[in-house]
Amino acid sequence: MMRSHYCGQLNQSLADQEITLCGWVHRRRDHGGVIFLDIRDREGLAQVVFDPDRAETFAKADRVRSEYVVKVTGKVRLRPEGARNANMASGDIEVLGYELEVLNEADTPPFPLNEYSDVGEETRLRYRFIDLRRPEMAEKLKLRSQITSSIRRYLDENGFLDVETPILTRATPEGARDYLVPSRTHPGHFFALPQSPQLFKQLLMVSGFDRYYQIAKCFRDEDLRADRQPEFTQIDIETSFLDESDIMGLTEGMIRQLFKQVLDVDLGEFPHMTFEEAMRRYGSDKPDLRNPLELVDVADQLTEVEFKVFSGPATDPKGRVAALRVPGGASMPRKQIDDYTKFVGIYGAKGLAYIKVNERAKGVEGLQSPIVKFIPEANLEEILNRVGAVDGDIVFFGADKAKIVSEALGALRIKLGHDLDLLTSEWAPLWVVDFPMFEENDDGSLSALHHPFTAPKCSPQELQANPSTALSRAYDMVLNGTELGGGSIRIHRKEMQQAVFNILGISADEQQEKFGFLLDALKFGAPPHGGLAFGLDRLVMLVTGAQSIREVIAFPKTQSAACVMTQAPGLVDNKALRELSIRLREQTKVE
Ligand code: AMO
Ligand code: AMP
Repeated sequence: MMRSHYCGQLNQSLADQEITLCGWVHRRRDHGGVIFLDIRDREGLAQVVFDPDRAETFAKADRVRSEYVVKVTGKVRLRPEGARNANMASGDIEVLGYELEVLNEADTPPFPLNEYSDVGEETRLRYRFIDLRRPEMAEKLKLRSQITSSIRRYLDENGFLDVETPILTRATPEGARDYLVPSRTHPGHFFALPQSPQLFKQLLMVSGFDRYYQIAKCFRDEDLRADRQPEFTQIDIETSFLDESDIMGLTEGMIRQLFKQVLDVDLGEFPHMTFEEAMRRYGSDKPDLRNPLELVDVADQLTEVEFKVFSGPATDPKGRVAALRVPGGASMPRKQIDDYTKFVGIYGAKGLAYIKVNERAKGVEGLQSPIVKFIPEANLEEILNRVGAVDGDIVFFGADKAKIVSEALGALRIKLGHDLDLLTSEWAPLWVVDFPMFEENDDGSLSALHHPFTAPKCSPQELQANPSTALSRAYDMVLNGTELGGGSIRIHRKEMQQAVFNILGISADEQQEKFGFLLDALKFGAPPHGGLAFGLDRLVMLVTGAQSIREVIAFPKTQSAACVMTQAPGLVDNKALRELSIRLREQTKVE
């Protein structure tokens, strides 16, 4: 071993001891005939002092530059009182350098590591191996590793077996586009990379493994956002003979233990909320409960107003009219209201009506609004009472199809919470339960809200009679407005699985072709089973306070699903394509 200690681990207890460090030159300073090198390794920094007494070593120290890799031997000594650095783990001591060996030189790095500089993400990703040297990046990856070991420990202790499932497989429908891999040995045929290990983990239950987990890579070709990557990691879990409350209890315990161990935070018991309540009060199926603002339905007060914008949705069974009261918002300038109006436009809202409550005691006179003239005073009074409006508030309104109103006001609620600094706590976990089985597409057809293997709360006959109102046995864990994980009790009987496929419009032939192996497995003694999967990257993002999951993945993809460092995806030569029986279309040929 070349080193005796990590830089960040040096402390007073090592005073007068001789030690050897290996690391990178973080900073080099010349101080009146003495040279200071800050040496960095993954655990932190240490200050090494070279004085001219050892002429040869001093000359070497004089030649090193930032990011050279060096090995230093020296003696630990306490820093003089005034020279201690509380910002540095090893800030009470320094090392008097005896020997210095340059293990490798380095070109000037593309961005400095020893001071803050605003570096574009493209550059950081292009030189990710250097970006990851920055202590704040190293910190996040270390925390990620602590998180996975805490989780493995918990699951091991609870009798879970870690089993790997294939990466080259068939499509698993989780609602995204598949990444496809052409087969050389089966010309014209393609593997799909798994969107999740869903079907394999169910088959492991049929095999009797009872409690499975895997920290599994998943692949989804979908539009990327701050909390989505084309390849990401799930903590994937499946169990047999447990019901939803058992599974929620077990996994809630896992997350609670993790927060205690890693952050010393006590999350307490997670509240449960139905999907219906979450949409009604927060306009979202992943409500951020740190935010005190709530949507309030007011359609019943507006069915007969002249203002069609309100009366239309108020009388449409698929419509919604909701209000959002913002305490103290009456002082909001016009410009800000216009900006929020634009913001809700992103979600399809056609406007953002509002009432500023200046002085309620004065009745209509005390209100300032483009819409009060349309609303009878009694209804107005009822609406203001219902939202709990007091002087100084602003009340926003959304009226449209329910989906648009919920999404627009739900997003506005989040934005206002951040803009006006309204969040009331640091952590707000919850379970969302009682999801609908299906959601309706624009053409009237149905899609599975979770995935098509989720069990409904009713019989196959009831499901077929009323698919659009059926509820599922699915549950999502939400933390601070992020969906951390989701799962369900699964269908374990063939008839039920076929009923769901039928409702989804999958023909008997297609069922056999795509899911024959699953239908077979359900025939041969499938136990009742269920599970869930957490998004590991999202979990680490929340725990580290990172703004994007790219910050907690060692080598992430860009927004356009590419790797700027390795230049993937890349071109392949014609020979390779020919072996795969693939010919590119003329217009997609590059160069
Ligand atoms: P689901 O599709 O909800 O469920 O995924 C589970 C969790 O994975 C995370 N996640 C993602 N993280 C980063 N980038 C993405 N593109 C991405 N997509 C999903 C989320 C999400 O909650 N097989 C089911 C689970 C089950 O039923 O057991 C599944 O994959 O945090
Ligand atoms: P208008 O009569 O179109 O000028 O609209 C009057 C007010 O209603 C304005 O403040 C608009 O922003 C608002 N508004 C228009 N359409 C909607 C809608 N669908 N939901 C909520 N407010 C709306």
